[in-house]
Amino acid sequence: MIDLDRIRKISGLIGYSEVIEQVLEMMGQIAPVDISVLITGESGTGKEIVARAIHKLSRRSSQSLVIVNCGAIPAGIIESELFGYKKGAFTGAGEDRKGYFEEANRGTIFLDEIGEMPYETQVKLLRVLETGEFMRVGDAQTRRSDVRVIAASNKNLFEESNKGNFRKDLYYRLRTVTIDIPALRFRLEDVDDLVDRFSLQFSRTNDLPYRGFTSDAIKVLKQYDWPGNVRELKNFIESILILERGNKISSDMVIKHLTPQIGRPSPNLPVVIDKSSEQAERELILQQLLFLRQDMRDIKSLLTGSEIDVSRSIAYLPSELAIPGIKLESIDGEDTKAIMSSAIGDVSMKDLEREIIRRTLKKFNNSRRKTAEILGMSERSLYRKINNYGLEKKKKSKK
Ligand SMILES: Nc1ncnc2c1ncn2[C@@H]1O[C@H](COP(=O)(O)OP(=O)(O)OP(=O)(O)O)[C@@H](O)[C@H]1O
Ligand SMILES: [Mg+2]
Repeated sequence: MIDLDRIRKISGLIGYSEVIEQVLEMMGQIAPVDISVLITGESGTGKEIVARAIHKLSRRSSQSLVIVNCGAIPAGIIESELFGYKKGAFTGAGEDRKGYFEEANRGTIFLDEIGEMPYETQVKLLRVLETGEFMRVGDAQTRRSDVRVIAASNKNLFEESNKGNFRKDLYYRLRTVTIDIPALRFRLEDVDDLVDRFSLQFSRTNDLPYRGFTSDAIKVLKQYDWPGNVRELKNFIESILILERGNKISSDMVIKHLTPQIGRPSPNLPVVIDKSSEQAERELILQQLLFLRQDMRDIKSLLTGSEIDVSRSIAYLPSELAIPGIKLESIDGEDTKAIMSSAIGDVSMKDLEREIIRRTLKKFNNSRRKTAEILGMSERSLYRKINNYGLEKKKKSKK
C-alpha cells in the first residue's frame, strides 16, 4: 500500500482530487525504481514539484539533483553544458570541464522543457539513457555516468515527433513511465485547499493579517479557468492578500483583481461594473462574443456526441445584475445567478447598461453624482442616458 499522506507531506503537493491522488500514487510507485520518467502538463501545473519529489522519495535522495532548463540554454552550448568538454574543443575552452551528467553522477538529472532540446543533442541523450555512456565535447574518450533522468515538457511530444521536431525513438524511450498532471481547471475541487495553504504560507512568512476568503469568493475563483494553472492561482492569492491587506477576501475583491490580471473578461466571471463605461462596454461585447463561441462549441460537441462540460457553458452574474425578462438559473440554490446560454441573443448592451444604471441609482438613493462616479461616466452623459432609457424618477405631482 502506498502512503499518500506521506508522499503529500514530502512533496508539498497540495490537493485531494482524484487526479492528484493518482499522481501521488504513481509517484510512490515509481520513485524507488530506477527508471526514467516523463512528466507532462501545462505550464504551472506542478511538474517541477513532482520531479523534485520523485528524487526526494528515491534511493538517490542523498545525492544531488541537477536541474537543467533545456529551453534556457542556447542551442550552441547545450551539448557542452550537458556532457562537458575537453580543453581546446572550441574557442574559450581553456580547460577540461565536467557537464551536468557527470555532476549528477549517482543522483538525478531533471531535464525541464525537454521539447526544446536540439534535435542533434537528442541522439546523445538517447545514448546515455540506453547505455549510460557519453563523451565530452571534443573528446574521444567514452565516459559513463549513473544518472536517473526525469524529463518534463508542456509541449505534446507525440505531436512534436510527428512534426519532426522531436526524435521518435527518444519519445518512445521516455514515455514508458509518464506522469501527466491535469490542468487546474479539470480539478477545481483542489482550489479550496490550494487557497488555504498558499494564503497561510504567504501571510505567515510576510507577517500579514489573514482573515480568510468568503465562500462566494472561492466560488468565483472556481469559475475562472486558470490558464496559468497553480502558479497563476498562487501569484493571485499573494497579490490579493497584499492589496486587500487585513480584509476578509470577498467575491467582489476577487472579481476586481482578477479582471485586470487576465486582461480579458473570462466567460465564467461575473461582470465588473466599477470601470469606465467604454472599458465596460468593450468587455461586455467581448464577453458576448465569448458566449457565442462557447455556444458554438457546445453545439458542435452535441452534434459529435462528445461530452459537454455544463459548468463552462453558463455565464455567471451576481443576482443584483439580473436583467428582467432574461432567463436565469440559480446555482446550487445560492445567491449567484447565471444567464443561461439559451438567453444569449435576447440580451443587448442597452439592456445591460440600462439595468446597471437603474440599479446603481437605486443603490445610491438616486444620487446621480455618486452613480456617475461609480460607473465611470460624466454626470452629463449619465443625465442623457437616464433620459434616453426613461429612468427619470417620477416626481410626485403637487396638489
Ligand atoms: N499541487 C500543488 N501544490 C502546491 N503547490 C503547487 C502545486 N502545483 C504547483 N504548485 C506551485 O505552483 C508553482 C508552479 O509549479 P511548477 O514550477 O512545478 O510548475 P511547472 O509545471 O514546472 O510549470 P512550467 O511548465 O511553467 O515550468 C510553484 O510555485 C509550485 O510550488
Ligand atoms: Mg517548470
